[in-house]
Amino acid sequence: MATVLFACPMDADRRAVLASRAKGAFDALILEDLPVDRRDEAWSQADVLVCTGFGAEIPEDLAGRAPRLKMIQALVAGVDHLPYDAIPRSVLVCGNAGAYNTSVAEHAMALLLAAAKDVPRLTDDIRRGIFDQGVMNRSLAGSTVVVAGMGGIGVEVARLCKAFRATVVGLSRSGATVPPADEGASLDDLVRVAPRADVLVIALPLTKETEGCVDRTVLGAMKPDAILVNIARGKIVAEDDLYDHLKSHSTFRAALDVWWTYPRGKSGRPFHRPFHELPNVVMTPHIAFAIPAQKARAMEAALENVGRFLRGTRPRNVVDATEYQAEARGASAI
Ligand SMILES: NC(=O)c1ccc[n+]([C@@H]2O[C@H](COP(=O)([O-])OP(=O)(O)OC[C@H]3O[C@@H](n4cnc5c(N)ncnc54)[C@H](OP(=O)(O)O)[C@@H]3O)[C@@H](O)[C@H]2O)c1
Repeated sequence: MATVLFACPMDADRRAVLASRAKGAFDALILEDLPVDRRDEAWSQADVLVCTGFGAEIPEDLAGRAPRLKMIQALVAGVDHLPYDAIPRSVLVCGNAGAYNTSVAEHAMALLLAAAKDVPRLTDDIRRGIFDQGVMNRSLAGSTVVVAGMGGIGVEVARLCKAFRATVVGLSRSGATVPPADEGASLDDLVRVAPRADVLVIALPLTKETEGCVDRTVLGAMKPDAILVNIARGKIVAEDDLYDHLKSHSTFRAALDVWWTYPRGKSGRPFHRPFHELPNVVMTPHIAFAIPAQKARAMEAALENVGRFLRGTRPRNVVDATEYQAEARGASAI
């Protein structure tokens, strides 16, 4: 039977899913449960590695340490952080796209509506004794929302925006209309569709192609009072360009869950420019995924994919490393 090594932190939710899935399907080894002197042996037995990919979960000497390894299954949807140089060409890498649709799409809507209705600023006003009923806010009904990236999260955002009676333009690789969007376009069309957008929601992976694709040209083409929502990865937006745009366009709003740099620990700022001084930004600390059901859901989806691989069925979300790294190997197929 195949051995699946779990190098990620294993809390009660992840363990419960593992317990229900492993029986008869594979032998599970949980790295954190093993004494340090048994860990080399565990790596040498691993056919599949389940991990988040953060920190030292994928060691630099992976090839020598895990000679039997055939698959790495990430628990997270975005795989831009994986150390592709350390991963042998023969190892299939799979992301966990699609496992975060509900939590992250809900959060995108929370950010969007908070920005459209000015909730943080007005809360602050009331705290300071200001009760101004003369302010206006924006409506999603009748607006145009451009969703960049019509995958799991993007499609769910589009569905929720349609429920708010917005028109949705979905940007995909092909440019085809992906339901439930009303129209389709490709990412190359972003500057062309930007002037129509009351809202731009970014739901793309961070790849060589998408990095910095929302830049001063795109921002400059948008309506002066549009709203940018980013729940995907910070670096898809050019940081300096967004800061300068927000500074010079007081009616433009950005609603951000994801950032350009990440403080170690629980204090610090996740940007290089002083976004915290701007009144037209709504911010959360990369917690779109953080709903109680998410860890179990992500482990379920990951183990379902591992099961597909072990049964000889092509797994989902096979990563093409060349999208992330200049000289990376192409992903191998089973
Ligand atoms: N804030 C959070 O807590 C959080 C949580 C989970 C995920 N995320 C981020 O959200 C991203 C999306 O997650 P997901 O589960 O929705 O992934 P997904 O299902 O793979 O969706 C991404 C979509 O973007 C499309 N795409 C990729 N490159 C493109 C390009 N150059 N032009 C146009 N479309 C392109 C993909 O098309 P193909 O299918 O053709 O590749 C796919 O349809 C993740 O990569 C991650 O970075 C954030």
